[in-house]
Amino acid sequence: MSKKAIFAGSFDPITNGHLDIILRASKLFDELYVGVLNNPNKKCLFTFDERKDLIKNCTSSINNIKIVSFDGLLVNYCNKNDIKFLVRGVRNGLDIDYELQMAHMNRELCEEIETIIFPTKNEYSFISSSLVKEVLMFDGEIKNLVPKIVLDRLSQKINGGN
Ligand code: PNS
Repeated sequence: MSKKAIFAGSFDPITNGHLDIILRASKLFDELYVGVLNNPNKKCLFTFDERKDLIKNCTSSINNIKIVSFDGLLVNYCNKNDIKFLVRGVRNGLDIDYELQMAHMNRELCEEIETIIFPTKNEYSFISSSLVKEVLMFDGEIKNLVPKIVLDRLSQKINGGN
C-alpha cells in the first residue's frame, strides 16, 4: 500500500519555506498531498484558485505530488483519502508549541494519523506568508524568500506590478 502524507495550509502565498518542506517530504512518502485550505471565512490575499495555481507552478518538477483542496477537519479529509501522515514544518519554539497542540488534538480526533514534524532549514526559519506580504507592502526586498512567480503575482496584487 502506498504511503500517503498531506502537507496542509493556507499557502497565502506559498513561500520558499513551504517549498523546502514539500520537497523534503516528497522524498519520504510515496505520495504527498498538498492540501489547500478552502475556508471562505478566512481572509486571504490570494483567492483559493490563485493559491492553488501558484503551488502548481512552483512544484511542477515533483512527480509524486497532488494538490488538493479541503475544508472542515483535516483528519476527516485524511480518513476519506486513506492518508496516514500529517506533515508540518516548524521554524522556532513558538511553532513547536502550536504544532504540538495541533498534533495532540489531531491524535485525539484520529489515533491512526501521525504528525511528522520537519524542522525548517535555518535559512528559511524567519519566513512566513504574512511577513512576506507585509515587507512587500512597504517596498522591502523579498526576492530571496519566495519563488519568482510568487514575487511577480504578489507585486501585481500589492502595488500593481511596480
Ligand atoms: O497555514 P496554516 O495556518 O499553518 O494551516 C493550518 C491548518 C490549515 C493546517 C490547520 O488550521 C487545519 O488543519 N485546519 C483545518 C481544520 C482542522 O482540522 N482543525 C483542527 C486542527 S487541530
